[in-house]
Amino acid sequence: MLRQRRNALDDDRQAQAAAGLAAQLQSLPVFARSRRVAFYLANDGEIDPGKALDWRLTQGGRCYAPVIVAGEKKLRFAEITAHTRFYRNRFGIAEPRVPAGQLIEGGELDLALLPLVGFDRHGNRIGMGGGFYDATFGGDAPELIGLAHEIQRLDHIHADHWDIPVSAVVTDRRIHHCTGRPAAHATGSRPPRVDSLRGQRCATG
Ligand SMILES: Nc1ncnc2c1ncn2[C@@H]1O[C@H](COP(=O)(O)OP(=O)(O)OP(=O)(O)O)[C@@H](O)[C@H]1O
Ligand SMILES: [Mg+2]
Repeated sequence: MLRQRRNALDDDRQAQAAAGLAAQLQSLPVFARSRRVAFYLANDGEIDPGKALDWRLTQGGRCYAPVIVAGEKKLRFAEITAHTRFYRNRFGIAEPRVPAGQLIEGGELDLALLPLVGFDRHGNRIGMGGGFYDATFGGDAPELIGLAHEIQRLDHIHADHWDIPVSAVVTDRRIHHCTGRPAAHATGSRPPRVDSLRGQRCATG
């Protein structure tokens, strides 16, 4: 249902959303301050961080995209430059084609921007069901921020113990500063890094 909702957005709406998202990200201090930032290549109606990525590249920022390594659940990350070539992986998602020796681990990033199908105010996230991001950021993790269309917000998401929450969700319209999970459900979750988002407007709730 949520996937249908975002897939129903036409090209104009998607382009507007991408522009709105770029503007919101540009106003986020942690986005400006982070050295190594992972993006993703939009697929299945996901909000497109491409405009924000292009802006960051023109600012000289270092940008990465996830790469699936055969036989592994943990994603690795390849740097994207003006010369990067892409190909489609087995899920049909574009990936940078770079030599394995140049890939970095999730823990080496300063900030990762995550796609999602649904999110709630606690930063719980529904992904595409592969568990790739959960596996990648279950240990040493950078700041994690979800990107979504505003229409992907839900009142409540059931989180499993392996689900990794995000500290904020940035949409085409606003920044939702997430509160973290209620204590009773906190097993295995990391508290949000409130310091890095302090002072941001919080439209959640
Ligand atoms: N740390 C883990 N421990 C046990 N099982 C896991 C773990 N991470 C993922 N899984 C398995 O992977 C499946 C998919 O996980 P989940 O539904 O949370 O994916 P997702 O968060 O939607 O996907 P993604 O993280 O790729 O965006 C789960 O049903 C579970 O069986
Ligand atoms: Mg999950």
